[in-house]
Amino acid sequence: MTESTTRRVKSHTIPTAKRPSESSIVVSRLMNPSDANPLGIVHGGEILKMVDEAGGLAAMRHAGSSVVTVRLDSMTFLEPIYVGDLVIVKAMVNWVGRTSIEVGIRVEAQNPITGERTHTNSAYAVYVALDENGHPKPVPGLIVQTEEEKRRWREAEERQKMRLSQRKKKSASDT
Ligand SMILES: CC(C)(COP(=O)(O)OP(=O)(O)OC[C@H]1O[C@@H](n2cnc3c(N)ncnc32)[C@H](O)[C@@H]1OP(=O)(O)O)[C@@H](O)C(=O)NCCC(=O)NCCS
Repeated sequence: MTESTTRRVKSHTIPTAKRPSESSIVVSRLMNPSDANPLGIVHGGEILKMVDEAGGLAAMRHAGSSVVTVRLDSMTFLEPIYVGDLVIVKAMVNWVGRTSIEVGIRVEAQNPITGERTHTNSAYAVYVALDENGHPKPVPGLIVQTEEEKRRWREAEERQKMRLSQRKKKSASDT
């Protein structure tokens, strides 16, 4: 979506479309012994929490409202993160639907003494913007300009189609 004008849908006013860079965020935290197992390796759950927080913050900044996580795609831990590492989580909006927002999240571990960085995980999460009554509300459009942003949009759109078809299959098998 490339328009930057205000649109009206039903009774909601949708704010001006935004660029991914306007909502992108970097969150970092030093890992402590309480975050880790007895071998000093950080629990996956700590990383998941940081991923969801960073993704949620990028989605909130884009939506200009509260959001909830509706989907966190599977995540592979490529390298261990140790106590004393600085975990750096970068989140950026890839795609928006009517009320949903896909955020791409990248996790790096940095040795704060040497500055050496390791890419440890990547994840995609979908958030839904909520109005003051807790109902899904329309989100601003996303202005995608660079080739990289257009590629991210296309790939996210495909992932979202897959998620919705999985949801459809699951709800059919549940009934
Ligand atoms: C998120 C929630 C409000 C959506 O409600 P709903 O009745 O499914 O609403 P809708 O069917 O209108 O879906 C809203 C949007 O979410 C998207 N969505 C719903 N389920 C999805 C899924 N499994 N994967 C990806 N997107 C999904 C829909 O496509 C829709 O997007 P669109 O408006 O851009 O087309 C509701 O499922 C909820 O409250 N879930 C609990 C959230 C939560 O507690 N999270 C953890 C704490 S933050």
